[in-house]
Amino acid sequence: MTQPERADPEAGRGVAVVTGGSRGIGAACARLLARSGWAVCLTYRTEKDTAWEVARGCDEAAREYHAEHGLPGAPTGAIAVAADLEDPACVPGVFTAADHLGRLTVLVNNAGVIDRVARVDELTPERLTRMFTINTISAILRAGEAVRRMSTRHGGTGGSIVNISSAAARLGSPELYVDSARRCPARRCLAHRRLAHRRLAVGYRAEGGRNMTSAVGLRRA
Ligand SMILES: NC(=O)c1ccc[n+]([C@@H]2O[C@H](COP(=O)([O-])OP(=O)(O)OC[C@H]3O[C@@H](n4cnc5c(N)ncnc54)[C@H](OP(=O)(O)O)[C@@H]3O)[C@@H](O)[C@H]2O)c1
Repeated sequence: MTQPERADPEAGRGVAVVTGGSRGIGAACARLLARSGWAVCLTYRTEKDTAWEVARGCDEAAREYHAEHGLPGAPTGAIAVAADLEDPACVPGVFTAADHLGRLTVLVNNAGVIDRVARVDELTPERLTRMFTINTISAILRAGEAVRRMSTRHGGTGGSIVNISSAAARLGSPELYVDSARRCPARRCLAHRRLAHRRLAVGYRAEGGRNMTSAVGLRRA
């Protein structure tokens, strides 16, 4: 992953929410953001100990950043917030917890699930509901919470949303991950610059926002 561009450290980076930050891609993003001067609020569903271990790693990284830049005082400590994001009602609580750390400037919209490989004739309503709830509905609600804090329309000063998607949403994966279609609506609404929903991304940019998507698994030829 590329190191984020460094701004004036005196100005402060603000707060980054990383959903699903207890392991994998989310944990890597959390550490990198802390190492680059952000106060991190990461979320987990069940793995409390693992999540707090990542938070402690973020604290260490934040201390290094502070020392390197000769900043006064101690950096804001990272926090790990338990939230089952399959339940849309849990989404606002994550952002309220992050508000206690300071001004939100980054959302890494990462929490999501991939189920076992299945053909379309094996999919159940329960599986599809779960997939669409966490990967699509919850992802859009999380972006909404971030926009309400970062957009100049709402009194914010701007910020960035990074949506972690999947290459399967773009390329398809017939007979393997049929329900990767789950990623398409969220991706299109939130980020895809070439599609009809472009106006959402463009409109948000005018309000001080940057909206990006990383399609995991996609490699440029
Ligand atoms: N890795 C890949 O090759 C790949 C490919 C395509 C797309 N992606 C997407 O990239 C993202 C990250 O992938 P990853 O491999 O790093 O994932 P991972 O290692 O499986 O970690 C998933 C994270 O999301 C959290 N999470 C899962 N279900 C949740 C729920 N219902 N509510 C709240 N948090 C939940 C987990 O928390 P706990 O630890 O507490 O369970 C964990 O922090 C996901 O959205 C995934 O679909 C990954």
